[in-house]
Amino acid sequence: MREIHAITELRDALAKERAAGQSVGFVPTMGALHDGHLALIAKAREDCDLVVVSIFVNPAQFDRRTDLASYPRDPEGDSRIADDNGVDLLFCPSVEEMYPDHYYTYVFVEDLSAVLCGSVRPGHFRGVTTVVAKLLNIARPDIAYFGEKDYQQLVIVKRMVADLNMDADIVGVPTVRDADGLAISSRNTLLNATEREDATVIPRALFMARDMAGRRGVAASRIMERVRMAIGEEPRVRIEYLNVVDPQTLRDVRQVDDKALVAVAAYVGEVRLIDNIMVGPGA
Ligand code: PAF
Repeated sequence: MREIHAITELRDALAKERAAGQSVGFVPTMGALHDGHLALIAKAREDCDLVVVSIFVNPAQFDRRTDLASYPRDPEGDSRIADDNGVDLLFCPSVEEMYPDHYYTYVFVEDLSAVLCGSVRPGHFRGVTTVVAKLLNIARPDIAYFGEKDYQQLVIVKRMVADLNMDADIVGVPTVRDADGLAISSRNTLLNATEREDATVIPRALFMARDMAGRRGVAASRIMERVRMAIGEEPRVRIEYLNVVDPQTLRDVRQVDDKALVAVAAYVGEVRLIDNIMVGPGA
């Protein structure tokens, strides 16, 4: 595996590979690599000749300085994991490399960025779409891979790529869960043992939602009431938002006829976790 820090070096390396007919799979990450990232890397490995992973903790997508400061970082561990998992090129730019002085350009996907996480994390998706647009322009992959755990991010990135006529195919990879159901996330490492245990109420509530919405016509309000009750049994878990939405538009639905996404954000202690599940007869 080759580790690259400069944009020009990555561009040159990839231009040579492309000229030799190699297809490029790209996995953008913020590091602290875990099994969720490994599922993205494995899919890229399966589909493409060359696998490029980026590690960049993107300041533009953090609405709170404390969140950026406490974001887990492990550059040496990440490099080892990437190497062990068949990554060809690991791109680790600095903040100055990505956002030099006099950086003024941002990409914003309207509407989809205003709901769910966008309603409580102002500027977050503007930061995500900006960095993803930059990374896609730099790496020019055939396919880029995103986890379905960040479902809203996946929908927004797909919209941006379609709207801006970008070339990459955007592929979503199913959420990886621990044995107790908790969706794997870099933020899980910030939970203490009690919080880690408390957090399992979130997937349990979502699985219950999936079970109750298996037939046509279940009211979204009923699903939300039951999920709130289930999560409410764990007093240390505080729901930030809970919505039942159309999987494409991310707008609230009144009832589940075919497929809907139940999306939740909750604080477990100081740690904010998000999760979602597709429900309905078509799910
Ligand atoms: O999902 C993430 O880790 C980040 O939002 C991404 C896509 C790497 C952009 O910084």
